[in-house]
Amino acid sequence: MTPSIRPANPSRPGFVGEVAGIDLRQPIGAAEAAAIIDGMDRYAVLVFRNQDIDDQQQIAFTRHFGPLELATGDIVQGEARRLTMEVNDISNLDSDSSVLARDDRRRLFSLGNMLWHSDSSFKATPAKYSLLSARVLPSKGGNTEFADMRAAWDALDAETQALVRDLVCEHSQLFSRGVLGFTDFTEAERAKWAPVPQRLVRRHPGSGRLSLFLSAHAGAIRGWPVPEARALLRDLTEHATQRDFVHAHVWQPHDLVMWDNRATMHRARRYAAEQPRDLHRTTVADVAPTLEQAA
Ligand SMILES: [Fe+2]
Repeated sequence: MTPSIRPANPSRPGFVGEVAGIDLRQPIGAAEAAAIIDGMDRYAVLVFRNQDIDDQQQIAFTRHFGPLELATGDIVQGEARRLTMEVNDISNLDSDSSVLARDDRRRLFSLGNMLWHSDSSFKATPAKYSLLSARVLPSKGGNTEFADMRAAWDALDAETQALVRDLVCEHSQLFSRGVLGFTDFTEAERAKWAPVPQRLVRRHPGSGRLSLFLSAHAGAIRGWPVPEARALLRDLTEHATQRDFVHAHVWQPHDLVMWDNRATMHRARRYAAEQPRDLHRTTVADVAPTLEQAA
């Protein structure tokens, strides 16, 4: 059976679709995978409700869309990892599943997810798709918001489009964490997150549309003075995250949300620090660094 996809918000058709007629606990076939890829190109965010999956089922589903990225974006830490390296730990939990202390360094680092970003834009080859599965949710708050970066590009005036069209940014987790005042990096972390170049404007292969490739990880523009670069990036981010371009996903248990990092930004919203929130993310790597992709 081919899954059906309809706009998540029928009163405002946009870049978020809701998928029905698929059970992610079962292996899917080529036709189902193709329908999902087609939906991802048409929308940019797909919501799958009531998918009570485990990590192995999530990994198996994710493999249909390309090679999995490993969770190497974590801070360098001695503690045991709670999840396998194929799964990014988007939680506030320690390896024994207790809630991290409010001042735990891992928690403070993860608060960078509350800034608008595109996953793994700090890696030379960034992320293509992210798939986030809700396992444990707080009683309120903790929404994930998405912004449509193809619509953001389309809505720029011609002069700004010409200004930014060929710019190359530098992305690093040192920049995004620095915005929140998290700056006590070890030498190993500084070396691991040396800035990488990314095009500011990309052509999205599946739709042929141009997209603004912004992210909180972007902290410099090649050939520009840093304050001028950051002012422009802030300005573009403000433009791209106007409420008309934003969809707030309100999580229900066992939701799986899949998004295209080449065409969207996202951010997590606040929730109570003492309540557990446990989401598992698998990530599909893009095919090449953005400078090597068609402009
Ligand atoms: Fe993220």
